[in-house]
Amino acid sequence: MRPGGDAIWAALPVPAIVLDAGNRIARANPAAEAFVMRSEQALGGRPLADCLTLEAPLDEALARARRDRAPLFVNDVAVGAGGRAPVQCSLQIAPLAGQTGHMIVLISPREMARRVSQGLSVRTASRSAIGMAEMLAHEIKNPLAGITGAAQLLSMNLDREARELTDLIVSESRRIVGLLAQVEEFGNVGAPHRQAVNLHDVLDRARRSAMVGVAAHMRITDFYDPSLPLALGDADQLVQVFLNLITNAAEAAFAAGGTITLRSYYEQALRVRRAGGEGGAGTALPLQVEVIDDGPGLPPEIAAQVFEPFVSGRDNGTGLGLALAAQIVAAHDGWITVHSVPGNTVFRVSLPRAPANREREEG
Ligand SMILES: Nc1ncnc2c1ncn2[C@@H]1O[C@H](COP(=O)(O)OP(=O)(O)OP(=O)(O)O)[C@@H](O)[C@H]1O
Ligand SMILES: [Mg+2]
Repeated sequence: MRPGGDAIWAALPVPAIVLDAGNRIARANPAAEAFVMRSEQALGGRPLADCLTLEAPLDEALARARRDRAPLFVNDVAVGAGGRAPVQCSLQIAPLAGQTGHMIVLISPREMARRVSQGLSVRTASRSAIGMAEMLAHEIKNPLAGITGAAQLLSMNLDREARELTDLIVSESRRIVGLLAQVEEFGNVGAPHRQAVNLHDVLDRARRSAMVGVAAHMRITDFYDPSLPLALGDADQLVQVFLNLITNAAEAAFAAGGTITLRSYYEQALRVRRAGGEGGAGTALPLQVEVIDDGPGLPPEIAAQVFEPFVSGRDNGTGLGLALAAQIVAAHDGWITVHSVPGNTVFRVSLPRAPANREREEG
């Protein structure tokens, strides 16, 4: 039995609205009702502009689509509804066959595209910040070595109390040198050597090295999709990514410890639009790995910037762990996102799969 139009209309997961010739709402599907936060009945007969706040008025686009009798795509408009904050959406407008003047409007929130472009700006921002930090690191290292040496010389002729101070100079200088080394290392991450890799092996390496160090007080469980295909990636660099995520989760955990879950799964349909639209259809990123913890969650004041370098919510944190992870994932044409509420923080890394001919056997 073929499903009827009403069933399809109701099942459409995208907000869809039918406008009459006067741009008043004739129909709204359940997704649109949820989006506007009003029932179809309450919306019926009202001008579109009463129900949605649009950054740019649609009248012109609607008139054009009607005149040309052709669908029209409106990219990147902020659409608000009810009391809700506007979200970036793309709109598809198309004339409804057989009903003169009637138009259908599909509203797709641009969550994904937005995240991707945010990722890109993070990349460029981190590149310039890192360039500057590297220059500074270079400039600081030499005088610092001089200061350390001088303090060590001084300490030879000092009594114990004064020597504590010179020791402090030496140990703090060492700490700075360590930090500078980290900055330099960050700037030196090479292009990935991408091969077919089993992400579960990568995760197990990261887990093992975390368990003997920072995450010794944590429980780490896994939830692997055993049929996960191979990824196209640089195993060593990806170990670094997951190790950084596990490390953060362990450092954020309450003193009593907590649970970190490593989860993998395959998602058929995820495609990323490339910046500038090159490559047309975009890259498919079907492999998903999540590092989930039940700790306190991202500090709200830095939540929006955690992937930027030098943003840290910890005493003594350099704020490079996630910036490095984001840089590596971006070099893999992948993407990394986070969703965090107290008790449930999920970092998700999405990666492309290896081309079939690079896979030896499955998984
Ligand atoms: N799983 C998590 N739970 C809670 N907060 C987190 C989590 N992961 C990251 N954060 C927050 O994000 C900040 C930035 O993390 P990032 O790894 O970039 O830097 P860092 O851990 O502070 O320093 P570094 O990794 O360079 O030693 C952390 O300081 C912490 O406040
Ligand atoms: Mg970190």
